[in-house]
Parts: sequence; C-alpha cells; structure tokens
Amino acid sequence: MEIIIQPTPEAATAIAARLIAGLIREKPAAVLGLATGSTPERLYAQLVDLKLDWTKITTFNLDEYVGISPQHPQSYHSFMWEKLFRHVNVAIKNVNIPDGLAKNVPASCEAYERKIAAAGGIDLQLLGIGTNGHIGFNEQTSSLASRTRIKTLTPQTRKDNARFFGSEEAVPHHVITMGIGSIMEARQCLLLAFGKKKARAVAEAVEGPVTAMNPASVLQLHKKATLIIDEEAASELKLPDYYRWVYDNKPEWQKL
Ligand code: F6R
Repeated sequence: MEIIIQPTPEAATAIAARLIAGLIREKPAAVLGLATGSTPERLYAQLVDLKLDWTKITTFNLDEYVGISPQHPQSYHSFMWEKLFRHVNVAIKNVNIPDGLAKNVPASCEAYERKIAAAGGIDLQLLGIGTNGHIGFNEQTSSLASRTRIKTLTPQTRKDNARFFGSEEAVPHHVITMGIGSIMEARQCLLLAFGKKKARAVAEAVEGPVTAMNPASVLQLHKKATLIIDEEAASELKLPDYYRWVYDNKPEWQKL
C-alpha cells in the first residue's frame, strides 16, 4: 500500500486528479471505477477543469441506493450527473451505475459484473472510506470475496449519510454495491480520505489486521493500492513519518 499524506484535502485531491488525468491521457479508452459522497466532489470539479477527453472512457460506479429513482436528488445517478458527467464529453452509453430500481436485483447485479468483465475490467477504482471502514457500501463483516449485490446499511452509515437526506429516517436501508471481490479485481485502487472522522478507519485499514470488520483493510492484499489522505485523516497512523519520507524521496521515475 502506498500512503500519501498531504496537508489539506485540496493538496491531496490535486495529486489524485493528476493521477487520473494521467491515466485518461495515456489510455483514452480507460475504464474508471467511480465513487460518490463528499470525498470525491472536489476531485470531480478538478477533473472537469482539466477539460480531458472522455469520449472513449467507460465508467462503473460503485453503488446506488435501492428504491429511489435515478432522478431523486440524492440518488447516486443524480450525484454523478451533477458533479461530473454533465460537465464532460463522456458518452452516455459508457456510463454504468447500479440500478436501484431493478425488479430482479440478483440478475441486475450479475449483469453489472458481466458488463465490467466485458469492458476489460477496471483500470482504476476510486474509493472513499466510511467511518466504519466500508468501501463501496460493503459494510463491516461483508465477505472479502463478495460480488455486486444488495446490502443493508448499518445504523452508523445511515447516520453518516443523513446529512444528504435531511434526516436519518429518509436514508434508504438497502443499497446495491460492487463487492469487495469486484473492487479487488481493479488494476489499481485509489482511496481518498479526509478529516478527523476518518482517522480511525484509515489507521485500522492501513496498520491493523486484514479483517471484514474494516473492509478497507483488504486493500493490504491489493497489488496496487494508493491512499491519499489529509493530515487529519492520518492523525491516528503509527508510522506517518515513514510514509511522508517515502513519498518525499521517491525516485524521479516513480513520482506521480
Ligand atoms: C460512495 C461509497 C462510500 C463512500 C463512503 C465515504 O460511492 O462507495 O463508500 O465513499 O461512505 O463517504 P463520504 O465521502 O461522504 O465521507
């Protein structure tokens, strides 16, 4: 795992934007795995400003709430169109987001997995992290081998996401999420985490045991996982100075 600690979310986001922009320029038909939530908002704004060519890019989002329509202001469909897709020249046919209104959820999840495979797999999977260590909506105790499927949100996640819905009661209980096994097949994983609230989950994910009690800890088993975090999110790490030294002294050819 590579841990990059930056003074602010802005500085961390700038590195993530450079990394993704570099991939899009190098591989114009790249397949991107995308996340929603507060964490990547600034990143999407920066990618929009870079005026990249998205015409051949394919995207797969991690998750969607069950039972709310794509037009619902808090659906992840709405989020993605609002924050990114409507500002770039992505082809609608290349945008994939789990269907929260699917009549046959298992069939729809299997189709999503097949589509990822048919696209050649995900080149880079962007991730946030829940305060309980979830990635996608793979809550604590999710199978580390799981595939795209329906999940039930924990009370903690519904509380965390109440800020988007106005109240906790309005947050759906069910979601469709790519599985941990699906995420682990991406050729690169890029996790962003900002703020004190994420510090414990980050420390456990990076320096704790690999455990379904902190789903992000599975990234310790990924061959190319990068975490870009701010000082606050890094505040409970045991080896922050080591990670800083590594990043500051990268050989020239390895610099991001
Ligand atoms: C969203 C997702 C979630 C969020 C996580 C953090 O697509 O998969 O894992 O990344 O809940 O959310 P924020 O960024 O709002 O703190």
